[in-house]
Amino acid sequence: MKLLNKNLTAISLLALFLVACNAGKDQTNIEIFDDHFDQISVKAQDWDPKLGMDAGMRIPPEGTVPKGFKPYKYRFQPPEVAEKAIKNPYADDFSPAFIERGKNRYDIYCAVCHGTGGAGDGTVAEKFLLKPPSLIVDPILGFNDGRFFHTITAGKGVMGAYDKQIRDLKDRWAVVNYIRTLQKKSKK
Ligand code: HEC
Repeated sequence: MKLLNKNLTAISLLALFLVACNAGKDQTNIEIFDDHFDQISVKAQDWDPKLGMDAGMRIPPEGTVPKGFKPYKYRFQPPEVAEKAIKNPYADDFSPAFIERGKNRYDIYCAVCHGTGGAGDGTVAEKFLLKPPSLIVDPILGFNDGRFFHTITAGKGVMGAYDKQIRDLKDRWAVVNYIRTLQKKSKK
């Protein structure tokens, strides 16, 4: 009798659990957590039977880089070194399409701090102790293209790198050329 009671308790608990989780087929589940859990991506501790290991936790072999990724060799170099070495392959491309691309990236990633016109008056600029500098007056006006590219790629002081956001190198150069057009506009 005792055993039966125990079993009955277990079964009713299980039933209660199932009902709580899925209240009938015609009703949606109650989601305590959101859909992040429903995605098909490998979860960190997922066991991969083929490999016989926690595949999600795999660390890439040492020294490997993702396909198509070229490490930036001036990342830890001072800007003075980078600016001499890096040439703008699109220095003459001020075509509307290229400048439009630069404006698009600039407005998304730079304007919040440096301002839509580049004057260092972005919407979040006033919140910073160290203000984002104006890109359209000296000394930055005098920086060469390589220096701009380097700052976008590796960051500078309190400004983070934007290489993860602006992945395409051509897009970074488009931003540089767009800043040049902002500088020219401000001189008028
Ligand atoms: C979150 C605010 C913020 C954003 C967004 C931002 N910057 Fe900056 N930027 C700064 C600050 C602050 C400095 C000054 C850093 C220092 O000297 O420590 C700076 C410095 C610079 C400089 C001068 C670098 C040097 O060598 O002295 C350039 C050029 C520049 N930013 C361009 C950009 C471009 C292009 C983007 C967009 C891809 C961008 N910044 C996005 C805040 C920002």
